Amino acid sequence: MKTLKYFFGWLIAGLALIQFVRIDVPPAPKASPGEEIDAPAPVKTALKRSCYDCHSNHTRWPWYSDIAPISWEVRSHVRDGRNWLNFSIWKRYDEKKKVKFYKQIADSVDWKMPPADYLWIHKDARLSPEEKRRIKEWALSHVPEDER
Ligand code: HEC
Repeated sequence: MKTLKYFFGWLIAGLALIQFVRIDVPPAPKASPGEEIDAPAPVKTALKRSCYDCHSNHTRWPWYSDIAPISWEVRSHVRDGRNWLNFSIWKRYDEKKKVKFYKQIADSVDWKMPPADYLWIHKDARLSPEEKRRIKEWALSHVPEDER
């Protein structure tokens, strides 16, 4: 019994301590609505539902995004996701970069994006086969044929 008490005592103390370790997400870049990516409505809806939490300024922060150690995962995802590709400032990317992104987007929806651990909690972010097909078709339509 005593060991168990110690165990939980240390566990709680440990959890309390790690709350001081925070990952800071830099403020989202200022963007006007006109700089957001354009896409046909069904594609846009899917992107908003499945990608925007990490790849836009419109992150829906869940309550546990403030509780370590889950917060580390959530915040580093948003920080790195936005850094990599931010749909809210899409029109600032030059043509070459956009083409590269379109290609990566088409590839990523097969299995890489959204990340598996995110899907595990956000079941609604799962893309249907039809949505994946639509996203791929739309993304590749922006890539010159010899580069696909
Ligand atoms: C939970 C956060 C999260 C969500 C949701 C998410 N991403 Fe990502 N994404 C990341 C992170 C973090 C990276 C940075 C590189 C990495 O980890 O591979 C990334 C990288 C990328 C890249 C570039 C790198 C590569 O390897 O292709 C593309 C393209 C991408 N994401 C597309 C998407 C699309 C499309 C969706 C929605 C269907 C999506 N992501 C949803 C977090 C996310």
